[in-house]
Amino acid sequence: MLKPPHQKYETLYIYGFREGHPDLRNFDEEDLIGYWEEDGIGVLFFHKPKNELVEELIEKYNLILEIKDAVPYSQWNEKRVPQPFEVGPFKIAPFWYEGNWDIIFDPSVVFGEGRHPTTLLMLLASWDFYKEKGLPQSVLDLGCGSGILTLFWAKLSAKVKALDINPLCVRVTKRNLELNGLEGEVLEGDVRTFKDFSCELILANLYKGLLLELFQREEFFLGKAYLVSGFTIGMEEEIKEALKNTPLKLYKRYERENWVCYWLWRS
Ligand SMILES: C[S@@+](CC[C@H](N)C(=O)[O-])C[C@H]1O[C@@H](n2cnc3c(N)ncnc32)[C@H](O)[C@@H]1O
Repeated sequence: MLKPPHQKYETLYIYGFREGHPDLRNFDEEDLIGYWEEDGIGVLFFHKPKNELVEELIEKYNLILEIKDAVPYSQWNEKRVPQPFEVGPFKIAPFWYEGNWDIIFDPSVVFGEGRHPTTLLMLLASWDFYKEKGLPQSVLDLGCGSGILTLFWAKLSAKVKALDINPLCVRVTKRNLELNGLEGEVLEGDVRTFKDFSCELILANLYKGLLLELFQREEFFLGKAYLVSGFTIGMEEEIKEALKNTPLKLYKRYERENWVCYWLWRS
């Protein structure tokens, strides 16, 4: 996340360690952007090169360095430079853009700068849902990333809960709610072991394998409506086949640049 004296992201200095280390979660330093943990790797992101510091951390925590890289922020996130965009009634912008925005956010280095086709589909489907069905009592955002979907629903006044496996996503989402004066519960956790799916609307912009796992879990069907994305047209048959064994029925389908989003209802 951006914190003073840093005003913008320029080059990301990235150090990735096998398995990471729990103490790195609380590590702080003035040029630190954040600590990311996912899939057996822990990654420190800095605004400046930190070779000496990283050597010390390796020594202290017995770390194994697997990634060392310097990437311009403009090349990060599949080269989607965070920019203002509009969805439904809301003008949304990274907080460093001057202007009159309804939602501001720090995209940081996590997924969810807003214009990835799956994020946009989820946002557009969310607005479609709101127009057709009104405000759901509660919304659960599985894999919240930067929290962009959580912010959208919180701005519409829904009671929101967000979950992500990556501690940096949890921090960024909390910060983004604060930036907008919005409230919500943000939890760190794995959807594969998460149990409390009782919620009116469940958002799940994940990936095919994880969706297929969720479709096999009884608890997942505690929701009423579902917006799911993170799969391509080529993966749809597999998704549809898996849905046949669930109480979920396809209500609407959205597509953008080969990516698909489904609005599902529990029957
Ligand atoms: C495709 S991104 C979606 C981010 C945001 N919701 C959006 O729509 O832009 C998927 C998110 O799921 C998270 N994730 C991946 N596996 C997960 C798991 N097993 N449990 C919880 N979150 C997970 C990732 O850290 C990532 O932030």
